[in-house]
Amino acid sequence: MGTLIDTPLTLAALRFSYSGRMVLRDVSLVLRPGEMVALVGPSGCGKTTLAHIAAGTLAPDRGRVLRRYRRHGVVFQEPRLLPWATARDNIALPLTLDGVRPEEARHRAEEAAVRVALEPADLGKHPAELSGGMRQRVAIARALVVDPDFMIFDEPFGALDVVLRRRMQDIVIREVTERGLAGLFITHDLSEAARLAHRIAVMHPKGQGVLGSAVPPGRPGDRTERQLFDYVQSSLAGDPLFADLQSVDERAAPAVCGCDPIGVQRCC
Ligand SMILES: Nc1ncnc2c1ncn2[C@@H]1O[C@H](COP(=O)(O)OP(=O)(O)OP(=O)(O)O)[C@@H](O)[C@H]1O
Ligand SMILES: [Mg+2]
Repeated sequence: MGTLIDTPLTLAALRFSYSGRMVLRDVSLVLRPGEMVALVGPSGCGKTTLAHIAAGTLAPDRGRVLRRYRRHGVVFQEPRLLPWATARDNIALPLTLDGVRPEEARHRAEEAAVRVALEPADLGKHPAELSGGMRQRVAIARALVVDPDFMIFDEPFGALDVVLRRRMQDIVIREVTERGLAGLFITHDLSEAARLAHRIAVMHPKGQGVLGSAVPPGRPGDRTERQLFDYVQSSLAGDPLFADLQSVDERAAPAVCGCDPIGVQRCC
């Protein structure tokens, strides 16, 4: 376990208000080196706001953010691609903006595309010609192309169907296990959290702190479907930490109901 010196991200006693309305109060979270932490909590509890504070796109009213990582990448629920640019150029965009030479940017974009299993033939296509899953792969590749040592994901797979979601989770798990990528992964889906994170942190339903965290058995990539199923079922049924998550089940239901035995929502 690392000391405070080498923790990639420390959020300490954060407070944040929108136009005088406080949405985060006394939120603290310390990430350890190489740790992927899933952050779960009901809709509206302030997860996206916290993701922006972690990424530095919002400043807290109070509290401290300590970043010890070199560079981060961010992936949101919507891929946010430039519609007029090809997949390759979308992936290369952060490098282009950094002034990297076009040939090198192109080469690195193609390497990043391989990491998310995009086919070379797809790289010349525009976002409108790609499926939802492929667009999200492009968004992940664009985040990875800058060689981040920390990633912030804000519900990146919420709009994808179950099968695609699994494939995308596997991409994240590979980055975590093979490259030691640390980060914050925000999700509504406890099964997703249990699948790809080392630890699951739970937000207070009204943004009044992090209630605590839980460590699923095993490690990301090693957990069997049976282990995940049992963990999610027992956590939802018996762990008070997750009591408020049930209130957001209707959001996760369309993606998991009836076909995902380890989803937050029980099969119906
Ligand atoms: N730009 C904004 N201006 C004013 N209020 C906002 C703004 N963005 C979010 N809020 C409010 O802040 C609170 C927290 O919002 P936030 O988007 O961080 O929650 P969340 O946990 O990410 O929700 P969800 O799970 O639905 O994505 C909500 O009450 C929301 O209405
Ligand atoms: Mg959100």
